[in-house]
Amino acid sequence: MSDRYAVVGNPIAHSLSPHIHCAFAEQTGEDLLYSKLLAPLDAFAECARTFFTEGGCGLNITLPFKLEALDLADQLTDRAAAAGAVNTLLCQEDGRLLGDNTDGAGLVADLCRNLGWGIRDKRVLLIGAGGAARGALLPLLAEQPAHLHLANRTAIKAEQLADDFSRYGDLSGGGLQGLRSRFDLVINATAASLDNTLPTLPEQLFTAGGKAYDMVYAAGPTPFVHWARTQGVPASDGLGMLVGQAAESFYLWRGVYPQVAPVLTQLRRELGKKKN
Ligand code: ATR
Repeated sequence: MSDRYAVVGNPIAHSLSPHIHCAFAEQTGEDLLYSKLLAPLDAFAECARTFFTEGGCGLNITLPFKLEALDLADQLTDRAAAAGAVNTLLCQEDGRLLGDNTDGAGLVADLCRNLGWGIRDKRVLLIGAGGAARGALLPLLAEQPAHLHLANRTAIKAEQLADDFSRYGDLSGGGLQGLRSRFDLVINATAASLDNTLPTLPEQLFTAGGKAYDMVYAAGPTPFVHWARTQGVPASDGLGMLVGQAAESFYLWRGVYPQVAPVLTQLRRELGKKKN
């Protein structure tokens, strides 16, 4: 029988994860089944436990259960502990659940490998101070940017987050209003694009050659991607991050690293068709 995996969330119908993992399995010749699980809002742990009791090998966890998945895990990777959230569970040989967070690694892989936008020695601005920003911090700092500044609508949250991670690198935090410097890379980790809005940002945020990245993806340009492009700044949405985090999960589960680029190209084509 094929090994079983799934993505669990609520809602879940829109998830592209089965599509991505089936493409990875086909590409690598791994024998697995990957499905979607809709967990009731008050029964994530029960749903996940049943999946593993019935022989499931691994789960991806999406909104709103990433914090509950952290509690469910028996053991955490360093990056999951730092992120304070789990998006991947692996059932180990002894039945204990290992919790990982592959979101930040997926982001860095998209920036560095797919887009070829280096982070090392760059001045990076991360906008937002919620779960998405927290998950990105350790993997971004591991790339050794010259400086990483966190800016959030509610300044105190960015200041607190910068404090929490200050031992890992050159990091500062503040509000969106007080932004005066220019940055080589500006990453939008706010939930604003999900509401089709743009955080209030100052003009002249980018250095010459600066780049913009939105962790959210959509069939068309997100408001942040559109805003950057109108200033002549190269900008990407987060579809590559989605495929990248899936590749990291696949690697944790199967020990094989799939090729991201062909799957990303195919998804981009299909999203484009939906838009038209
Ligand atoms: P997630 O887990 O997706 O990061 P979250 O923890 O609820 O979600 O955090 C949402 C982030 O998006 C926060 O940083 C929030 O800013 P506040 O802390 O000031 O609330 C930010 N955010 C959401 N909508 C925004 C908007 N329209 N403009 C600017 N920031 C926004």
